[in-house]
Amino acid sequence: MADVQVRNVSRSFGSHKALDDVSIDFPDGGFYALLGPSGSGKTTLLRLIAGFDFPSCGGISIGGESVERVPVEKRRIGMMFQNYALFPNMSVADNVAFGLSVRGDTRSSIETEVRRALDLVQLDKLGERRPHQLSGGQRQRVALARAIVTKPRVLLLDEPLSALDKALRVDMQIELKRIQREIGITTIFVTHDQEEALTMADRIGILCDGRVVQEGPPEDVYDRPRSEFAASFLGDANILRGKTFDNGIRLSDGMQILAKEASSGSAGVEAICAVRPERITIAASASATPPGRNTLNGRIMKRIFAGNSSTYFVDRNGETLKVLVQNQDGERLSEGQDVTLSWSPESTVVITA
Ligand SMILES: Nc1ncnc2c1ncn2[C@@H]1O[C@H](COP(=O)(O)OP(=O)(O)OP(=O)(O)O)[C@@H](O)[C@H]1O
Ligand SMILES: [Mg+2]
Repeated sequence: MADVQVRNVSRSFGSHKALDDVSIDFPDGGFYALLGPSGSGKTTLLRLIAGFDFPSCGGISIGGESVERVPVEKRRIGMMFQNYALFPNMSVADNVAFGLSVRGDTRSSIETEVRRALDLVQLDKLGERRPHQLSGGQRQRVALARAIVTKPRVLLLDEPLSALDKALRVDMQIELKRIQREIGITTIFVTHDQEEALTMADRIGILCDGRVVQEGPPEDVYDRPRSEFAASFLGDANILRGKTFDNGIRLSDGMQILAKEASSGSAGVEAICAVRPERITIAASASATPPGRNTLNGRIMKRIFAGNSSTYFVDRNGETLKVLVQNQDGERLSEGQDVTLSWSPESTVVITA
């Protein structure tokens, strides 16, 4: 069931449409990641849901009720902004208590709730400190505690982990997911980090120029992108151009690329097919390829070593294909070598304009 429902929402600033006819159902208790390039409208959408701003048209409902006339403080939303500013002159505990004091809760209930929230983010021993006495990751956890302490029904997080280094970020991802599960709160999470979105969310939505390009469970969106933009924005993709024929596309030089799910349109129209770099097998030319696989020949132009994996850049008639390979024992292919690339029709997605 949808907890937050956004229906045909647009928001214009002058002549610029920051959001253009956006409709998304955010499932009850789910973890939804919003992805999109800078300026695509992610923060604008969160601000509309929170009630800091209003749609130019369309409607938003929370828990089945329209919130058109419901002010920010009555929407029961916890929000952690892109710049999660803490109050520098207040202790950690007072920062977390802020929303409860404003609401006029009693002192003893505030104390209990603040303790519980600080426990949850594992900062129970640091309540007396000031923000400047904390590490970046601890400050972000204070901001998170402040966002959840009021027991909101919806949690809006705008790039909450962006300031953290890789190791801390992974810790916080695990922590955030644990907290979200523990309190079962409907969460909408904005991130620039596609890996973060894929690992944490149970649904993903990709925004571009204020429109929803694609949404669905992470595996669906990753395995079956419906546009070149979605294919290249979420993960890496090789894009081959050609014209459709019954079960795939035909490249300009006549090579046929087969797909399992062929495009529904008619034959002979311009189309692309997308293949993920990790789905391609690379082998020295003239080695045997199992039948039924798509094959292309090329030459290795470059190999980039990344510890556990390597990426080969393979030239084929002036076009470059990327192949991602796990580094294992055995012979490595070298730059300048002629190779055969192969992949299965199941790993090939045909996209027509
Ligand atoms: N108050 C405003 N007045 C005018 N234009 C605005 C306003 N707020 C946002 N915009 C514009 O709307 C578009 C969407 O902005 P938004 O902040 O939602 O982007 P975003 O997806 O959150 O980007 P980022 O990833 O950089 O945070 C941008 O082009 C922005 O310049
Ligand atoms: Mg933003």
